[in-house]
Order: sequence, then structure tokens, then C-alpha cells
Amino acid sequence: MKRLRPIPSLLTLFTLSSATAALPQDRTWIVTDRQVALDTRDKLEELDLIDSEEAVFNLVPSTGPLVTVEINRAGLGRLKTIVHREYNHCGGFSPHSNRAEARAQERRPAYQPNFTLSSPKFAAVVDQQAVVVPALDEIDATRIAAVVCKLESFHNRHYDTDNGQAASDYLLQLWESYTSSRSDITVRKVPHDDWKQDTVMARIEGRETPSEVVVIGAHLDSIYCVEYPGLDRTCTRDHPAPGADDDASGIAAVSEILRVVASSDFKPRRTIEFIAYAAEEEGLKGSRELIQKEYSGTDRQVIGAMQLDMVGFKGSEKDVYFVSDATSQQLTDFVKSMIATYNSSAPHRIEVGEDITCGYACSDHVSWYEEGVHTVFPFEANREQSNKKIHSEGDTGDHMRSIDSDHPLRFAKLGLEYVIEMAKGHTPQPPE
Ligand code: BES
Ligand code: ZN
Repeated sequence: MKRLRPIPSLLTLFTLSSATAALPQDRTWIVTDRQVALDTRDKLEELDLIDSEEAVFNLVPSTGPLVTVEINRAGLGRLKTIVHREYNHCGGFSPHSNRAEARAQERRPAYQPNFTLSSPKFAAVVDQQAVVVPALDEIDATRIAAVVCKLESFHNRHYDTDNGQAASDYLLQLWESYTSSRSDITVRKVPHDDWKQDTVMARIEGRETPSEVVVIGAHLDSIYCVEYPGLDRTCTRDHPAPGADDDASGIAAVSEILRVVASSDFKPRRTIEFIAYAAEEEGLKGSRELIQKEYSGTDRQVIGAMQLDMVGFKGSEKDVYFVSDATSQQLTDFVKSMIATYNSSAPHRIEVGEDITCGYACSDHVSWYEEGVHTVFPFEANREQSNKKIHSEGDTGDHMRSIDSDHPLRFAKLGLEYVIEMAKGHTPQPPE
């Protein structure tokens, strides 16, 4: 039976099949791209799955680029599947426990068409050659591989399991071991209210303007999901999820940058914070909560945030592809000029490809961007050629390294240049 298409402008409630009434508690509110919501609604019809199971898909009328949809489990399962198939990505929406929260998210300035970041606090000048050039030679491929290997061995790093928590403990110890000789570096865990895994942070105190913070981060959690084509997609906390590329690679690169910076005698003018976010795969929950708890309403001013998420699989011809949505053009250009300065020839050569887009809130940089922070997100490949094994048992180090095992190294170099050039070296004043 083919249904008539509802008239979009009148469509405030779109309830598919109503053999049994949905339980009120089986409701959640998501925020998603307007086009994704409209396409999903169309596909739900086309698939003719609408009589097989009840699916609620209730679009809240609005005018911006994002929409709020009241949805139930069945509806959400289909939305995820359609998003995955049609847009070739997995999430594409942010879940909220009530309508007011969802609508507030939908209306955030960062999602309005005329949104622009305020002028950057950093001067886009590359002038730290004396520090960066020798530091680049210290980046160690075997250490990066060892951290990836260790993180893979946790069965999974699901954000709400003991495994996920054990991964935080391991990283805390690793980062402490890298920084124990420095009194200007503190390493700590930031616990979260609703799940087991902690966020891990290392902070190098700036010597001149400590409230100005340069952030570099990656996500510590991993996840395993199964797709049921046309029906549902479920993620479990029990199944193995090595998450080597997504995102042990990013954590290993951030760790190596911390090690090299901490073992050098570089003393930054601004503060540098290295962050291993918990619970990214659960809808950026860790980074959002961290920002609310640790930064909002304080004098800490984040002047830039780099995200390293999936830096291990060289699926494309060029080495690095910059994500152009929910990122800062100025900061991206600045990082490109660092590459032009430091990575134009062997042994540190890095080739930059055409910019790409995620098209949705795909990683933790978005949590910063929503707060008006200048962000940059260098990625492993072209969007279509990135690692297809993520969120499966196949996201292993062996698979990630199968094309070119040096890939994470390039991102560690890039991140090292970024933290040094953004934070700048402190020049001690000569005694009078
Ligand atoms: N690393 C991925 C994001 C990604 C995947 C970027 C492929 C570019 C290409 C990230 O860990 C992830 O899985 N994100 C989720 C969304 C998140 C908000 C739950 C996703 O893409 O489904
Ligand atoms: Zn992921």
C-alpha cells in the first residue's frame, strides 16, 4: 500500500502506523539537519516499512537549518539506517531527553546561517622554527604504534563500562609518566556524572597569559555497532571494539605530542591542554559536559582547539584533508601555513588534499565550535576513502596500517607544530 505524501508545510506530526499506541516513555527528541529529516521522512514512506512496526517521527515546525524531531526507538532505528545509507555516515543527529533542550540546541547561534566566529586571539604568524624544527625529529613512530596497540587490547573502550574506565586509568598513568619531571604540568582525570569513563587532561601552565588556552584532543572511547539494513542499528557495550583508527590513533598522536613537548625545554607563553575525551561515540557527551563543567563561566579562554579523530588510515592520495564545516577558516589556514613552513620536504613532508566536509556533528571539535571557539580538524583521507572498518571488530591496527604505517606520525607532527605555534615560547626577561 502506497501512502500519499504529507504536505511538508502542514507536517507537524508524522506518525507511522498506529496499531498500538507508543509508550510515552519511548520518546526522545533529536536535533538533525533539516534535509536529513525531510529525506528520512520520505524514505520511511518509500521503504513501505511503515506498517510493520510503529515508528513515531514528529517534526517540530521551525525555520532554521536544523530541526527538532520527536521520535521513538523504532523511528530512530530507521533514521539511523537511512542516514547511514544515504549520507554514508553513522550519527547525524544529537539526542536530548526533552523537547526544550533539543530546541535550545537547534537554535544555538553556531547553527544559524549567518554565524561567524569572532576574530581570533592568535596572530597567524609562523615564527617558532627554533623550537619546532628540533622537536619534529623527536616524534617516535614506535611509541605511537605501542599506544595504539595497548588501547586496542582493552576489549573495547565503551564509555560506560569497566573497560572504558580502565582505558582512562592507563592513559592517566602514561601521561603522568611523560610529565613527572615538570612542575608546570598537571595531569588529572575529569569524572563524568552519568557514566564510568573519565576524560583525561594534561595541562602545561602558560608563563605569560595562562588563561589563554590552546587545546588539542582526541576521543578515548570506542564502540561496536551492528547494522540491520532497512531496520535498525544497535551499538553494544559488550562486543569487542578495538577502535584502532577511531580513535586510538588520535589518542596515540596526542600522547606523543605531549611526550615530546614535556621532554623539551619549551615553556609556553599560553597554556596548552591535551584532552582525551570520554563518550564521544555517545553523541559528543564527554566534550560537551567537560566544556560546561570546566570552561563555561571561568576565565579560561580557549583560543583554538584541534581535534585528531581518525589519523591512521591513508585511504587517499594526499596525506591530510581538512574538515571545513564547524571549523575555523582562519585556524585551518594558519595550520596549512605551518605545513608549508615545516613539511614541504623529506623527512617531514606532508601533502594537503582538498578540504572535505563531515556534514553533521561528527566529532568533539563541534562541541567547541558551538561555544564560538576556533577549531581545526585534520583528517586521514577523503571522506569517501576513509576507514570503513570503524565501529566494527575490524578496526584494528593491522588494518589501519595496511596502506601506510607512517600515517599517524604526520598528524603528530602537525599537532606538535600547532601547539607550539599557537602557544608560542616564553622569553625570560634578562635580569635588570
Ligand atoms: N570518527 C568518527 C567520525 C567520522 C567518521 C568522521 C567517518 C569522518 C568520517 C566519530 O568517532 C564518530 O563515529 N562519530 C559519530 C557521531 C557522534 C556524534 C556519535 C558518527 O559519525 O556516527
Ligand atoms: Zn566513531
